[in-house]
This record gives sequence, C-alpha cells and structure tokens, in this order.
Amino acid sequence: MDDGLQSRIRGDAAGLPTRVALGAMVTPAHYALERERIFRRAWLPIAHTHDVPQRGSYHVYEVPTFKTSLLIIRGNDDRIRVFHNACRHRGNKIVRAGSGCKANFMCNFHGWVFSPEGDLRVVTDEHQFEDIDKSQLGLVPVTSEIWENLIFVNFDETPRTTLAEWLGEWHGQYGDYFQRHEKVVSYQVVLNCNWHLAVNSFTEGYHTLYLHKDTARDYQGGAGNRERHRPSIELFERHHRYSAPGNPDHLEAPGEALAGRYGKKLLPSFDFDMTGLPPGVNSMRYGKWAFDVAEIFPNLVMLMGNHWHNEIRFWPLDEGRTLVLNQGYAYRARKPSERISRAYYRMRNRDIFREDLNTLEVQQEVLASGALKEVVLSRQEMALRHHYKVTADMLAQA
Ligand code: FES
Ligand SMILES: [Fe+2]
Repeated sequence: MDDGLQSRIRGDAAGLPTRVALGAMVTPAHYALERERIFRRAWLPIAHTHDVPQRGSYHVYEVPTFKTSLLIIRGNDDRIRVFHNACRHRGNKIVRAGSGCKANFMCNFHGWVFSPEGDLRVVTDEHQFEDIDKSQLGLVPVTSEIWENLIFVNFDETPRTTLAEWLGEWHGQYGDYFQRHEKVVSYQVVLNCNWHLAVNSFTEGYHTLYLHKDTARDYQGGAGNRERHRPSIELFERHHRYSAPGNPDHLEAPGEALAGRYGKKLLPSFDFDMTGLPPGVNSMRYGKWAFDVAEIFPNLVMLMGNHWHNEIRFWPLDEGRTLVLNQGYAYRARKPSERISRAYYRMRNRDIFREDLNTLEVQQEVLASGALKEVVLSRQEMALRHHYKVTADMLAQA
C-alpha cells in the first residue's frame, strides 16, 4: 500500500538502474579499477580548517585507500597546504602522527628542516652532498582545495576538475552553516565490508522502520507517511541529497524531554523552525523536515539538521574492508546544561549509528559468496541508484 507522500524529485531520475550486480563489484579486480578511476580522480575530504587553527599548526592524516600519510600545515601566510608526509632526504615521516604547532619541521633521522610552507631550510652537513639544490627539495605537495571548512585533496596527477566544478551548484549553498557547529564526537571503525555497502547504509531511510525499531522507531514519517517516503530528492551530476520527513507526533522518551528542556531539540525529535537555514539545507523547505542526507561522491555522507550535522567518511582498505569515520557536530553550547543536553543526543546518535553498521558484514559475506546475481532497488532507494549510476559513469571513463 502506498500511503505516503510523493517525493518531489529534481534532476534526472530517468534511466537510473533498478538492479545492480553487486556481487561482481566486491571483487579485488573491480575494486582495483575503482581505486584508480574513482578514488584517484575524485576530490576527497581529509580534514577541517579548524584542525590547523593557527600559523604553524599541523595535522597528520593517513589515507588508507592509497596507503599514504599526509601532512597538513597552515603556513605563516595563513594558507593551508597539504604535503606527502615524507622527508626528501631518505623518506622518513616528518611527523609521525597527531596535531600541534611548530615554527619549523625537523626530520628526526638526520635533522633536515622544512618551513611551514614546505620549503627545505636546512640540510645537515650540506657540503657533503655533491649536487644539491635546496629549492628543488621542498616537501612534495598534494593538490588540495577548501570548501566551507572542509579540506579536500585530489590524487590525480593532473586533476580533471577544480573542487568547485566537482561540487557543482552546491558550492555556494551552505553559507556559514557548518561553522555554526562545534565537534562533539569523533570515532571510527573498520568493517569487513565493501565501501559501497557502507555508504549505502546511510543514504536511504525506510530501514528506520526495522533496523532502528528499538531506538528511533517513530521519529520519521508519522500519520500519512508510514513508509517514510522522502519529501524531496535532488540528483546532481555526481552528488545527491534528500530531506527526511520528521514525525510531528513522535512520542518523546522521558530523558529526551529533559534534554529538550535544557537545550535545542536535535534528534530524534526535531525543531521545525527553519529560520536562518541556508538555501542548501532543506532546499525545498519541507515543513515537517527532520534532516537532510547528502552524499558527496564517492566517500562523504553528511546528515544535516537544525543545530547539528554529522560527517561520515568512508575509506576503502580493499574490496572487503572499509574504514568508517563518524564525526558529530552540534550548536555551540554556552551553558553546562546545554552540554549535558547535547550528551543525550550524542549517545542516541551513537546507538543509531551502530545499528546502521549492523547488516554490513553479513551483506558482504552473502554478496561475496556469489549467491545473488544482483540486488533490487526501489524508488525509496533512489540515492543508491544514483550512486551506482555515478560509479558506472566514472568507471567508463578511460
Ligand atoms: S630522512 Fe629525513 S633527514 Fe634523513
Ligand atoms: Fe539508519
């Protein structure tokens, strides 16, 4: 029975696949091609501008998909640069791990020194080298650009697009939305599943009826939309986003009611006042809006609500393992009571997130066994269908 509202769809939904041969996609050969044609050519999120807050700040980020270590530094000119974390002498890591702030970066093997802008300043016992030109031996840069407060890199030798071109019309639609929030939680997990399965678990919402029945049973949909049809779906060249329908009749648990009294309503009850939202968030201004789900292809999913957002990054390790990193942000708390209130939602969010991972390893086992020739996708899974179309498009490009 179709008792729900019809999704307003923007973009080209015609021709999206309804069947995907996923079993053939979780193989080593297929993944090797995806790594070169998708991950090497895409813009990939690695860190935030607030990870390097002042001149000389650095942050090490390991990219497991390419087995490479990156060193992000804010220079004395305030520009943020990304380098391979590799000493030009004999390849020691300049910084082993973590974040901090330094005037100079000295390698702990033989003492070569690099500036925060990546220039080679000091070569130990320089006259013992027969043919050295320090101006040619700075840290090796990685192509990087910034969108809002997110730092992206591109591993292609000559990137085919700028980050602005990659993001398309999203680029200017979020205003200061992300900067309004501060980080409240960050954790990661390695799952024994292919990266597609992990991404897909966060980009459709009707599984909340079943998978989240014990945590967030009635927070979406409600009377007139029992099956939780999305009020709006937008499909772009590479990315997509949709709004999730909040349930105005959601029954608050006692702890949740208390949290809502001392702080802003986050999840699973929602603040339906949309004053001040930028155009990209709930872009069709659905009245009973819960939050948006946005996939920046290939490996970033953002959940964006009123006063909070989550960023989930997915890094494939191989065809059957994925590192999932979840970072939660919320409005800036001014009082201890608001911090405590946010903690309720932080715990609730973690419970729901863990449930979202629940099916992934068994799905991987089944698909890798070859038991199914293909999986079957409905209109509720429009975002997945779009994801697989973009995947096929990128794989088809030589
Ligand atoms: S490897 Fe860095 S100074 Fe020798
Ligand atoms: Fe979920």
